[in-house]
Amino acid sequence: MFTKKNLYLKNILRMRVAEGRNLIKGLRLDRNEKVDLWPSNFIHNVLKSKPPSFFSTYPEIANLYKKIAKFDKVSEDQILITSGIDGGIKNLLNILTQPKDVISVLSPTYAMYEVYSKIFQLKLHRISYTENYEVNKKEFENFFKLKPKILFIPNPNQPIENTFGLDEIKKIAARCKKIKCFLVVDEAYFHFGAKSALPLIKHNKNIIILRTFSKAFGVPSIRAGYTISSKDNMEILSKARIAHELSSVSIAVAEYLLDNFKMIRNNVSKIKNSRKLMLKNLRNIGLESRSQYGNYVLIKFKNKTEAKNVVQFLRKRLIYVKGPYKKPWDCFINISLGPFSIMKSFLSGLKEAKRRRLFT
Ligand SMILES: Cc1ncc(COP(=O)(O)O)c(C=O)c1O
Repeated sequence: MFTKKNLYLKNILRMRVAEGRNLIKGLRLDRNEKVDLWPSNFIHNVLKSKPPSFFSTYPEIANLYKKIAKFDKVSEDQILITSGIDGGIKNLLNILTQPKDVISVLSPTYAMYEVYSKIFQLKLHRISYTENYEVNKKEFENFFKLKPKILFIPNPNQPIENTFGLDEIKKIAARCKKIKCFLVVDEAYFHFGAKSALPLIKHNKNIIILRTFSKAFGVPSIRAGYTISSKDNMEILSKARIAHELSSVSIAVAEYLLDNFKMIRNNVSKIKNSRKLMLKNLRNIGLESRSQYGNYVLIKFKNKTEAKNVVQFLRKRLIYVKGPYKKPWDCFINISLGPFSIMKSFLSGLKEAKRRRLFT
């Protein structure tokens, strides 16, 4: 039976919100997904070499472990495959924390950090940004005084992007080590340009890396991610896994994309090119924007009303963008980046909004 201890879960607000997006005609720029489409023969190509028993058997994941290990030049026993980075975060909190422990994350960021903190009854210390998009030094220093268990650094973070270099990560890891704290580097946007902290795990036993197939690989649908750390760490961190980390279809897609990484490289280079062109175009429209190492751009409006009106205007034209955010980021919106040819209809929507004086 439930005990009093369980009842707090009742008060946590969880919603299954239908996004309400028109997925046929709409332009999806609101979730940092792959904006363009996979070719229609994609799943056929993924499954064509599978045996007739493919759907009748339990998933076989050993090969995917091998392929990821080879891809990232680590050993298989340094990896745990999870349901996206999302599953990786949950696994870490499950194993490494007790109720009332302090964890910390840059804020704003991926929403599930907040949700899981509530579920695991943790004290979430948020490290915010200054209006110059710099990490708030005071809040960062305060974190070390709170006897924290884990510091999560999404690197690069979204929607506020402030990417740490390897030297900085190394220094932070050393400080975390002194207070027996894990440093988890969430590399959701790896491949779009930021350096990975992976080379640091050899000499920094408290570093854990999170990776995903959702962003550069372009398949958030398959819910595949993985955790990488030292073999010793993974001996503990991989033990609480579920019986089958992924479905057979997800495994097949992930393997196919690792085998055909050229496709991903090609896609990433289109996004990087689009990033440059979008910044230039937004400047020409008179808007301040930021994008360094992600598949997204943060765009600033003069005030919250302008930001809100533009989001609504674009939505009516089936162009979905994210924002405005909570204060103090309430005059910002965020858009995902696809190949520039696709982004042109966003730019014309934005220009139309300007003509109609929705922003100045
Ligand atoms: C910083 C960050 N971490 C993690 C995630 C979740 O990734 P996944 O789809 O692998 O669960 C996101 C998704 O937007 C993200 O922005």
